[in-house]
Amino acid sequence: MNWKDIYQKKRVEIDYVLNLVHSNMTIVTGMAASEPQLFLSKLHETPSLQDINVFTCLNMKDYPFFSNKESEGRFINNSWFYNDSNRKAISQGLKTMTYVPNNLHQAATNLIQTKKIDMYIGIASPMDKNGYFTLSLGITYEKDILEKADLVVLEVNNNAPRSQGDTQVHISEVNYIIETDYPMPEIPIIEPTEIERQIGENISNLIEDGSTMQIGIGGIPNAVAQFLKEKRDLGVHTEMMTETMVDLFEAGVITNKRKTLWPGKFVCTFELGTNRLYEFCNDNPGILMLRGSYVNDPYIISKNDQMISINTALMLDITGNVCSEAIGTRHFSGTGGQLDTHRGAVKSKNGKGIIALRSTAKGGTISTIVPMLPQGAPVTIPRQELDYAVTEYGVAHLRGKTVRERALELIRVASPDFRNDLKNEAQKLGII
Ligand code: COA
Repeated sequence: MNWKDIYQKKRVEIDYVLNLVHSNMTIVTGMAASEPQLFLSKLHETPSLQDINVFTCLNMKDYPFFSNKESEGRFINNSWFYNDSNRKAISQGLKTMTYVPNNLHQAATNLIQTKKIDMYIGIASPMDKNGYFTLSLGITYEKDILEKADLVVLEVNNNAPRSQGDTQVHISEVNYIIETDYPMPEIPIIEPTEIERQIGENISNLIEDGSTMQIGIGGIPNAVAQFLKEKRDLGVHTEMMTETMVDLFEAGVITNKRKTLWPGKFVCTFELGTNRLYEFCNDNPGILMLRGSYVNDPYIISKNDQMISINTALMLDITGNVCSEAIGTRHFSGTGGQLDTHRGAVKSKNGKGIIALRSTAKGGTISTIVPMLPQGAPVTIPRQELDYAVTEYGVAHLRGKTVRERALELIRVASPDFRNDLKNEAQKLGII
């Protein structure tokens, strides 16, 4: 078969694909760096359409289909994880955004079970001689959805790295191809603050040689890596592959060789960082990119002995309920894979589930450890599942502890400026 001829027959321009969009359609796009930037930046140009449901996650840009007033009634951006641009649209009162509560490993399956998917569109690396593309920077939900969609469109991009694992898609499974050449989106590396470094050091003391790690999103996880330079034979089983993992691999700290599941391999569902990360990942046989429905399944995660999950939170009540995705009723980000990975680590043999947070926010004026979560705040990790909570003041180990013991542990790692108030409130609540 001459796959190149078939490729040419399926090749269209963006306007052709925009003309396929009709009212009441459900469209799912690739997430984060796998987002189809060309399609999303032009979607609002489609005339006289109503009620189009677009499912996205971690938008890399401020796309007009959800950031324009004129998009109200025409498009709804259903997001599995908010970023700055989504928060901005919400704060402007636009009726173009809504959040999909979920655990990351169930994002695809929940959608497939409840909705007919009219179109999947996302990025891909160029086709090889056998007619295979790869979904490049992520298959968190992308491949599961693509397999169920009525129409599959790929934005094929020469800058999209070729990934290994389960990311291949054959031309015969694709309806249309749009050739693009925009750069892959990069997120800058943020130097940790002094407080974040203290938290990173506290966490590093919990990590033993030979552990397998999941490192989440946010400033604190980057700080942890700086204190792991003396560790040996660490492994990675994570939803998000980041540049700090490249640093630790090059320093000889990550070898993946003592992993009990997929030894010798990094396991991830998506990659997000800078071009240095994308170059490292390109055609790298040491990186196994697998579906989020597998990688983030807590049962699968727990098959890694000594599994360490490190995630961050916005606030924590003194009995251990964690809120990582909202500030009161103001939705901030998403659950993502936080509960998945924490659960998996807690169930793993000698595993540790770690939640890290600065002890204060807003310039030290408020404590992030509070007597009760504010009204309307969702619980990302329920207290019965929280294992470790780490601040710049130390480590609280809550697994199996009573509410009284938890409150005393958490007050010990709270900011000294708030410890007395927390103690008084805990007494009023009858906890201590
Ligand atoms: N009360 C009020 N505001 C608070 C607060 C609190 N307790 N804690 C933080 N904030 C504010 C900060 O001041 C900051 O405000 P700004 O944007 O105006 O500066 C904002 O909330 C974000 O806080 P910050 O600590 O800088 O966030 P981060 O970038 O380190 O991300 C999470 C932290 C928790 C939001 C992020 O890790 C997340 O979304 N986690 C959930 C999903 C997850 O962990 N998935 C698994 C891995 S992908």
